[in-house]
Amino acid sequence: MANVAVSKEVEAGQAVYTRLLLRVYDLWVLFLSNRFIWKCPSSIQLAHYNRHIGASHLDVGVGTGYFLRHCKFPVADPRIGLIDLNPNSLAFTSRRIRRYRPEYWRANVLEPLNIETAPFDSIGLNYLFHCLPGTLKEKGVALDNLLPLLKPGGAVFGTTLLSGGVFRTPRARALMRFYNGKGIFSNEHDGLEQLEEILAARFSEYSVRVVGCVALFSAIR
Ligand SMILES: C[S@@+](CC[C@H](N)C(=O)[O-])C[C@H]1O[C@@H](n2cnc3c(N)ncnc32)[C@H](O)[C@@H]1O
Repeated sequence: MANVAVSKEVEAGQAVYTRLLLRVYDLWVLFLSNRFIWKCPSSIQLAHYNRHIGASHLDVGVGTGYFLRHCKFPVADPRIGLIDLNPNSLAFTSRRIRRYRPEYWRANVLEPLNIETAPFDSIGLNYLFHCLPGTLKEKGVALDNLLPLLKPGGAVFGTTLLSGGVFRTPRARALMRFYNGKGIFSNEHDGLEQLEEILAARFSEYSVRVVGCVALFSAIR
């Protein structure tokens, strides 16, 4: 897999996803943290996938591929593309959904993407923005880089953990502070208003819903 040169902040946002961590990710993040700390059970995020996923889908920031494995595609044989900076996440997910024979690319979404492939019906960005460094306005560049890979009328959707404009329990605040301190998250200044701004600047139709401290968003190109 090609080497990708990135800043140390971008590196920190993906470095934690080792092969070992990926083996416990579903239990720790998707089952325990989502339900008991972020207060947005994974079943709600899976329903968000089911609502927006298209017959051809590009997933970005793939982790373990849990939602791709469990969501309901609108066709039996979907075309799937995967983008991630971390080769472990790409390997784990492409193995987990091998029955769909996904295409995959290692890339930093904050940089222009050199990917030549047919555009997709949907693009999913689940739990990606809070891993990216910078302000939400700066993270919006990821949308600009990805839009050429979306068909006209296609959907962009995903979720992200916010610090502002959402209710956070003391436990959620403490865990977010810890992850931000380690560089695993960079969402101390991410608020609901800024998320709406980056969507409004690019899409005429978008929606954002908050459950716990998670924003679930979707937009049509
Ligand atoms: C929190 S995991 C999300 C996994 C999955 N989407 C989910 O919802 O469970 C974040 C993923 O984003 C990837 N990632 C982080 N920074 C990235 C970047 N700059 N470009 C591309 N992928 C990145 C990480 O390697 C990791 O696989």
